[in-house]
Amino acid sequence: MPNALSRGIFNLFFGAKRKPFASLPGPQPGILGTAGDFLGASPWDVCARYGREYGGVTLIWMGPNPGLVLNDPALIAEVYESPRRMEFEKGNISEQIRPSTTDDTSFTAELRGDWVQKRDMEPTARPWAAESLAEMVGPMQAAISESVDALLKRDAIDLAPDLRRLTFDAFSVALVSEKLPDQVFEDFMLLAKAADARIQAKLPLKFVKPPKGFEEAKARFYGHFVDRIREARKRQGSRAVDVMSRYLEEQPGIDDQVLAHMLGGTYFGGAFSSSVTLVGAFHQLNKYPQAAERLAAEAASLVADGPLTFGKLEGAKWTEAVAFESLRILPAVRVMTRTPSKDARLAGVTLPAGSMIMITNQHLHRDPAHWPDPDTFKPERWLDGGTTRDPLGSGHFFPFGRGPRACVGADFAMTFLKTALATIASRVKVHVDSTEPFEEGFFFGVVLPKGVTGKLVARTAPSSEDVRVRSA
Ligand code: HEM
Repeated sequence: MPNALSRGIFNLFFGAKRKPFASLPGPQPGILGTAGDFLGASPWDVCARYGREYGGVTLIWMGPNPGLVLNDPALIAEVYESPRRMEFEKGNISEQIRPSTTDDTSFTAELRGDWVQKRDMEPTARPWAAESLAEMVGPMQAAISESVDALLKRDAIDLAPDLRRLTFDAFSVALVSEKLPDQVFEDFMLLAKAADARIQAKLPLKFVKPPKGFEEAKARFYGHFVDRIREARKRQGSRAVDVMSRYLEEQPGIDDQVLAHMLGGTYFGGAFSSSVTLVGAFHQLNKYPQAAERLAAEAASLVADGPLTFGKLEGAKWTEAVAFESLRILPAVRVMTRTPSKDARLAGVTLPAGSMIMITNQHLHRDPAHWPDPDTFKPERWLDGGTTRDPLGSGHFFPFGRGPRACVGADFAMTFLKTALATIASRVKVHVDSTEPFEEGFFFGVVLPKGVTGKLVARTAPSSEDVRVRSA
């Protein structure tokens, strides 16, 4: 809490501005407003604490500007789902990531601009998306299995970067039928780092310089997809099973550059969030070995008579429960922002245009009034009606956001997560060095687990290997 002098100065200058917001609870503002709370702390922890201390709506001050942190399902629905959602745009985040992600994906489009068209063009929103996704399960399983082979040769793994690359490679197989050269991955990471520097910038964006080699990396990254699209157009007739080929077949008139931007955009939308979810899942599974063994048993039965299929995954209720529970307890995206494009009434006050609204799922995902034993990883809570009680995108469970602007890749992500969990668990035990909570940083708007190290142990390997690791 700011000291009395700091609070006094704020009141002296902005006391009149505070008056219309007097009905709302929140921390006392000082010279920086309440922004000091966010210095040196994870934004999601601060937002969740506000939920516990102040309830569903908390008034914050970003310097002299009022803002809200929402932890109330009904208010979140008003911003995300009601017809009034048109009043709220994504705000800064679009501006921050646009140089890296381009302007051809729905992520950065304005709701009141061309968002509908851009969203509709996304590969995961096309009418054939579900059918195409079903075809991806086998190829993604093969890609993940190959990545597991490579990781098995290593004495140690660092789960966040290693599962990120595994995810990137599986996505590549789904998108263009093969894993991509290291250079493409490195270019992707450079573009992501550039966007992250803008997201985390303390200075106005015009002062944030792109990293060295940014333009070259961007040209190479998207150019790689343009080249593949052009090659695929020449091969017409021999349809490969991948998103790019399906797109070209269904909509041959699509512009090469636009399709390249959307394919590249898939990694930005999903590679960090999906891989981080896997890190959380394997960390929790280490802590709860019975859940891990049940996953391994289900996974073994899924692959016993041939490759994974979409149909098999639909019946894999424990695998799905593990994915949901990981998304509940350690959601990869925990803070989303909205900003009113004009002055807007919300929670009984008038928020000026441009105000910050922070929406967070961390508190609601662990709200003890809603979830029994909320801090414990219990996949079983999703069985016997759990998924109907708390479906994706509902008041207390929205790892992919809520409403029409929720994650366009949610089905893709769920299919990838289940494929990865089943493939990995059928082949190896992921031994994680510590079951203590890991440190969480922030990268590209997504939680970044730090220092989650471990080792893969083959389930079919001689048991002495397993024993050696267990007794280490
Ligand atoms: C576990 C994995 C994932 C998580 C947790 C996740 C989470 C989210 C969330 C919370 C949002 C809403 C943000 C907001 O309301 O401001 C979102 C939007 C979005 N996601 Fe995902 N996502 C995941 C995977 C993916 C994948 C695989 C793709 C691409 C295939 C993707 C593409 C997008 C796009 C393009 C948007 C913006 C949609 C729009 O603005 O209309 N995401 N995601």
